[in-house]
Amino acid sequence: MQDSKLDFFATVAEKSDGASLRGDYADISEDYVVKQNWAAYTAEEHALWRKLYQRQAALLPGRACDEFIVSLNALHATDGIPNLEATSKALFEATGWSIVAVPGLIPELAFFTHLANRRFPITVWLRKPEEFDYIVEPDIFHDYFGHVPLLFNPIFADHIQEYGKGGLKAMQLGGLDQLARLYWYTIEFGLIQSPEGLRVYGAGILSSGGELTYSLEPSSSRHIALDVERCMRTLYKIDSYQETYFVIRDFKQLFEDTAPDFTPMYQRIKQQEPLPANSLLDGEIELLNT
Ligand code: PHE
Ligand code: CO
Repeated sequence: MQDSKLDFFATVAEKSDGASLRGDYADISEDYVVKQNWAAYTAEEHALWRKLYQRQAALLPGRACDEFIVSLNALHATDGIPNLEATSKALFEATGWSIVAVPGLIPELAFFTHLANRRFPITVWLRKPEEFDYIVEPDIFHDYFGHVPLLFNPIFADHIQEYGKGGLKAMQLGGLDQLARLYWYTIEFGLIQSPEGLRVYGAGILSSGGELTYSLEPSSSRHIALDVERCMRTLYKIDSYQETYFVIRDFKQLFEDTAPDFTPMYQRIKQQEPLPANSLLDGEIELLNT
């Protein structure tokens, strides 16, 4: 194994208290890509996929943004775990993105390099039935259901590529913690305005039974307008629902507000204490009206 790979497994083991990563990393290629081996999924796994899909699909109207719902329906992924090659072809025709199968979490360098080249990594394994409501590491249901539909949106697709390039740059600048917060609060847990009220575009919410409802309820959580630098200062929760949701006006805003050079922002943010996940600053307004 290469040194960089050994480093990756060592870091992950450290972060998760010595627990090893889920997934089979035996046959990875240089860039962590594997074959999906679609024929190997069991009837039980396909049935579990259908259950997960049906629960989420029922929650989408009035909660997910229209772009997501339209693209998801066009994927026809209701019957069972999708074949990634087939989806990849359709996606490539639409926005020039492909899908690559991966064994699970992959190192930052490999992840950002895929995104910068318009390849989206999707985990091949599906959660167990007892993980129906909650899963620690992303599985194929989260990665596919949550992320693939919006890759059909040209602006969002371009944004994710820029994010990938920005990730490679942040690795050089020591800005990974900050950039990860932006990813978390937008691509994973972002909300968007619509004429009918707030809607969800973040994959972490869209693939979660509980948070899809919770994130839009008037609750103790905050819903505030996205300010990129503010967002990159904000800590996030990985083991509970979010305490703050950042709201964008549209995907064009997300693209444009993240386009400037982040180098001076990384410098500034590093000199400040990060903000707690539930902070509300002067002038910030709660956007979800009761
Ligand atoms: N503009 C950022 C930079 O200069 C890169 C980036 C683009 C980050 C899009 C996130 C999203 O580093
Ligand atoms: Co995700």
